[in-house]
This record gives sequence, structure tokens and C-alpha cells, in this order.
Amino acid sequence: MSDQLVWARAHTNIALVKYWGKADAKLIIPQNSSLSLTLDHFYTDTGVQFDSQLSADQLFIDDVLAPVDEKVANCLAVVRQLAGIKTHALIRSYNHVPNAAGLASSASAFAALATAACKAAGLTLSKAELSMVARRGSGSATRSIFGGFVEWHAGDSDTTSFAQPIEDPVQMDIKMITVVLNRHPKKISSRMGMQSSVNTSPYYAAWKQQAAKDLVNIKAAILQANFNMVGHIAETNAMRMHALTLSADPSFTYFNADSLEAMHIVKSLRENGTNCYFTMDAGPNVKIICQSKDEATIINALYRHFTEDKIVVCKPGPGVTIIKDPR
Ligand code: PMV
Repeated sequence: MSDQLVWARAHTNIALVKYWGKADAKLIIPQNSSLSLTLDHFYTDTGVQFDSQLSADQLFIDDVLAPVDEKVANCLAVVRQLAGIKTHALIRSYNHVPNAAGLASSASAFAALATAACKAAGLTLSKAELSMVARRGSGSATRSIFGGFVEWHAGDSDTTSFAQPIEDPVQMDIKMITVVLNRHPKKISSRMGMQSSVNTSPYYAAWKQQAAKDLVNIKAAILQANFNMVGHIAETNAMRMHALTLSADPSFTYFNADSLEAMHIVKSLRENGTNCYFTMDAGPNVKIICQSKDEATIINALYRHFTEDKIVVCKPGPGVTIIKDPR
């Protein structure tokens, strides 16, 4: 065990074929495999030290003492079990998500926590094994262990549900323009939203079948560096995920009026010959998938409706790394 904080940096990722539903809520085994792109802009630095002087785990987020919630506790419990220790941990976490971004940071947060905690506990794990530990904090964190295009194999047990790199560095020219439409925590968490969709949407079985097809097709598109096929699959997959929220009982949605406006802008740009596509997650923010050549056109169109501080352009980003104390 280390006598000082061990630090890791992980970047967030956006799913192009989404994970939306658990087969096992405790182990966080998903209903379907998913595929994402890790981004360069948004990341979390987390330092962990196991300290026998501590009588409880202690978590600081951006230097403010924070409650150790169930997800953090789960992740730490797995690390302690693997390392055969009972010692409590000091955790310091810094989120580098631009103030205005309001993006979910659980993917980068749990990938960084799992990596720093495993190293601090003296474990030497492969990245696939690290992804299994990150998964116990938050499903999407499984994929943030790797950079570029990443697949999370659903599997059917703790050791068969892990992430694998599909392409890093990414060969095709692909960017994501994030349109930030809400900075507040979402009213319906992804955890609640996906559970309600699995339990009550009559379309859930169809979603699972379609997501499996989307995964095969998007991997082929990545291999062929076919940007338009990647964008098209990502957009249709996202809308089919959101159809599960509208068809749940009670129905709910993550769209707001601005999300619809942003999606409308993307569609009209496309009708006029600009190759761009959108995706959305468990919140109103819209992410536009595009190529460098079209970035300026898209941003100009967005500026007619949204202010500059709402728009962040991202490129593919790297996998998790152990870093020096960043403070
Ligand atoms: O694991 P969570 O709670 O971050 O859920 C992620 C759900 C989506 O972002 C909507 C889809 C995905 O695959 O990341």
C-alpha cells in the first residue's frame, strides 16, 4: 500500500450505441453491449490513499467534503476485496469539466477512482480488469478506462462484463460538439430511468435486438472509417433509446425545448448537405457528431440560437493513466 495519494486521470465518454438497462443491478451487468467514443475535453483527476489511521472512508470533491454514496462504497469494496484489505481510504477528486458544461462526470469519475484505488491498494490489474472495477461504480465508467472507440461487452457475470478498445488512436476525422442546455442535476437519474424502461416499456425487447445489430454495424463502419455510417447509427440508436423513456409507464423524457431545437438544426444542416448527426443521453444536452471540415458551419448555425458559452468542441480522447499529484 502506498503512503501517499496515488493519482489517476480519466476522460469522459459518450456512447454511440447506448447502454440502457441492467440485467444485474448489483453487479451492474448491462442488458446489451455498448460502444462509445472517449473525449479529450472533460476529465477527472482522483487521488486515493488507504490509511490505517482512518475510521471511515473520506471523500473530497473539488476540496469539499462529500458523502461517500453507494456507488463510491461499492467500488471501494471491490478494491478492498481484491486486495484482501480492510483499511479505509482518503479520496480527493477534481472534476475538469468546464463550468458551463454540465455533463455527467460519473464515467470519468469512476474510471479514475477505480484506477487510483487499485494502484493505491497494491494491485496490478490489466485494463480490462480495471474496467470491471470501474463498472461497479457506474456502467458508463467501464468504457472510460480506454481511449478512442471502446466496446463494453455486456457479458453475463462479473468477469465477463468488461471493456475493450476498438480503435485508439481513432483513424477517422470525428468530433463532438457539445451543446450544453442544462447545468442542473437531472430529475430522473439514469439508474431510475433505465430501470423504469426495462420494467415498463413494451418496446424493450425490440430495443435489445436493435442495439445488438447497431453494435455489429457500427464496428464495421469504424473499420471502414465510414463517418456517415457511424453518425447515422449513433443518431438512430440514441432516438430508439429515448423512445424507451416515452413508452415507459409513467412516461418521461430527457428532451427539453432547446434539445428539440438543437436536433432540428442538425437535421436542417444535413438536408442542406452538411454531414452531421446528433446523440443524447440521460439529460437535455445534445452532442453533435461531425467532421473538422464542417465544424465552422455547424457552430455558426448553432450561434443563431445558442450562446457561445453553451458550445464545447471535443476530439477523441485518451484512456486512463496514473499521473503525478496534479495539485
Ligand atoms: O452508467 P450510467 O449511470 O452513467 O448510465 C449511462 C447511460 C447513458 O449515458 C444514457 C448511455 C451510455 O451508454 O453511456
